[in-house]
Amino acid sequence: MKTINIQFDDRSYPIYIGQNLISDFSLINQHLPHKKIAVVTNNLVADIYLDTLINSLSPHKDVISIILTDGEKHKNTDSLNIIYSELLKNKADRNITLIALGGGVIGDITGFAAATYMRGVNFIQIPTTLLSQVDSSVGGKTGINHPLGKNMIGAFYQPKCVITDVNVLTTLPRRELSAGLAEVIKYGLIRDIRFFEWLEDNMQSLVGMKQDYLMEAILRSCQNKADVVEADEFESGIRAILNLGHTFGHAIEVAQGYGNWLHGEAVGAGIVMAAKLSQSMNWLSDKDLKRITKLIKNAGLPTIPPNISVEKYLELMMLDKKTKDGQINLVLQKSMGEAVLTNAYDSSKLRQILDQSSH
Ligand code: NAD
Ligand code: GLY
Repeated sequence: MKTINIQFDDRSYPIYIGQNLISDFSLINQHLPHKKIAVVTNNLVADIYLDTLINSLSPHKDVISIILTDGEKHKNTDSLNIIYSELLKNKADRNITLIALGGGVIGDITGFAAATYMRGVNFIQIPTTLLSQVDSSVGGKTGINHPLGKNMIGAFYQPKCVITDVNVLTTLPRRELSAGLAEVIKYGLIRDIRFFEWLEDNMQSLVGMKQDYLMEAILRSCQNKADVVEADEFESGIRAILNLGHTFGHAIEVAQGYGNWLHGEAVGAGIVMAAKLSQSMNWLSDKDLKRITKLIKNAGLPTIPPNISVEKYLELMMLDKKTKDGQINLVLQKSMGEAVLTNAYDSSKLRQILDQSSH
């Protein structure tokens, strides 16, 4: 097992990365100060992993399970209310720990429930998708979607620990694995060109789910994310670079209906759109753009966005949390391995990239 420690003063915490960690009671117990625990998961993950976790916890703890309906379209107030109601029905007081067992949807909702139930209770992440292991479980962003905008309601709230069990990826559908790889590629592009090159060399092994390679990719991704969020926990500056491709991606997710394009797929196509705009500013060469497009494609991700009208794109992109004074700010690539948040792009070029009918 490897451990990455995230340093946030009194809110520092470890990310444990290894095999068969879900059933390791002594590991999780270091972060369980209370008797009462609520495991929040969804119907799909519950069928595969809930018993393993409950069997490890229940001889020592009072455990309740809260099973939500699977899917991005359930990352909403209804699911949140189910959690609050179950906690209240079970007379949960402040001495409870919420454990999120699932992908980014479960992690984000459970984290927000933990941040807000009785103004804040203990919270542990057990991420079960590649995407949640390399990104959403790290750094404390929690929240839910609004019908009009992605992740619009939320809080920064750090977990007590993250338990990343690489074994659970064996049951992950290929499409979900690819979605996670979009965020992995992102780290290489924004700040770690050596990692990008490693991904170019080893993408086949990652897509082929080779455990050693997945472990390496998770470690390097989490270390990159830890470095960025430690420098800027509340996203007043550098943390925004973690959103490469996301302003485009979130617009795609909302326009297509939550869950139709997976978050990672939308981010993958969004990374290519950002690269095109960066290339139009001569920050990237034609060759760089080809390398990026090829790696996204080799990861099994779409490189061409869906056909959405330019006006709809711009309307949705305007809702992005990085928009300031009516100006859409975008994370673009200054070079390979370097990203910048900027509004100094050519708007007509942006419109051209958004306009699929012109391609
Ligand atoms: P997800 O949570 O919907 O999981 C994807 C699918 O895989 C679901 O059907 C899920 O039930 C299933 N699943 C989970 N683990 C499995 C396993 N081990 N085996 C088989 N199936 C499994 O989606 P995701 O890609 O994990 O996360 C996407 C969400 O994360 C989005 O809502 C996005 O906004 C959010 N996100 C948040 C952050 C953050 O910093 N908080 C960062 C990136 C993404
Ligand atoms: N996923 C972007 C962030 O955590 O800031």
